Amino acid sequence: MTKGKVMIMDHPLIQHKVGIIRNEKTEHKVFRELVSEIAMLMCYEVTRDLALVDEDITTPMAKTTVKTLQEDQVTLVPILRAGLGMIDGMLSLIPNARVGFIGIYRDHETSQPIEYYCKLPTIVPNSLSIVLDPMLATGGSAIAAIDMIKARGGRDIKFVCLIAAPEGIEALHSAHPDVEIYAAAEDERLNEVNYIVPGLGDAGDRLYGTK
Ligand code: PRP
Ligand code: URA
Repeated sequence: MTKGKVMIMDHPLIQHKVGIIRNEKTEHKVFRELVSEIAMLMCYEVTRDLALVDEDITTPMAKTTVKTLQEDQVTLVPILRAGLGMIDGMLSLIPNARVGFIGIYRDHETSQPIEYYCKLPTIVPNSLSIVLDPMLATGGSAIAAIDMIKARGGRDIKFVCLIAAPEGIEALHSAHPDVEIYAAAEDERLNEVNYIVPGLGDAGDRLYGTK
């Protein structure tokens, strides 16, 4: 379902799994497994318009032409830490995708994104970069990550998250109107310290059992 500037992927399987990870009683092992499963389900739709090329092959019966993906034209870019939780699910469907890493955390006082790592493969023309982060709150981290990808030549970029706040959707869309946003849910609002309500808390802590 396209809702304004964001594609909300409200398939029943996704809604069910999102409901479980929102629950504060869900421990990090199950949380991590479900984030990976949701990412895999979202991958199906996010990759819907990937280009296919013809390949001539021979079946046991005859020569024919089949459609194949150029998987290495896809670059997955998780934003550390929490985006790492989405990578295995995505790679299970596009195993030959390239993977780049961007490290960003939010300053606790200001909520401003602080960049600390960037390791991206060479971005080839006509390739797709899929940025992964479970949470789109103020949008600062997503905007900074996409700035970094564009500075290295990335043009076709999608942003995939699990929970999006209206404020983050608006900010990301204003900064990068060319970037399609996919989310499993759009929540009500940010609270006074810029956490998503109802949200699921701190995604990194919930994935890795820290705090
Ligand atoms: C979280 C989340 C996003 C960011 C979203 O990361 O994983 O990267 O906050 O907030 P924003 O939209 O307001 O920028 P966090 O700063 O907690 O870092 P971590 O994953 O290393 O814990
Ligand atoms: N980052 C998180 O992990 N959760 C939020 O609700 C907001 C930012």
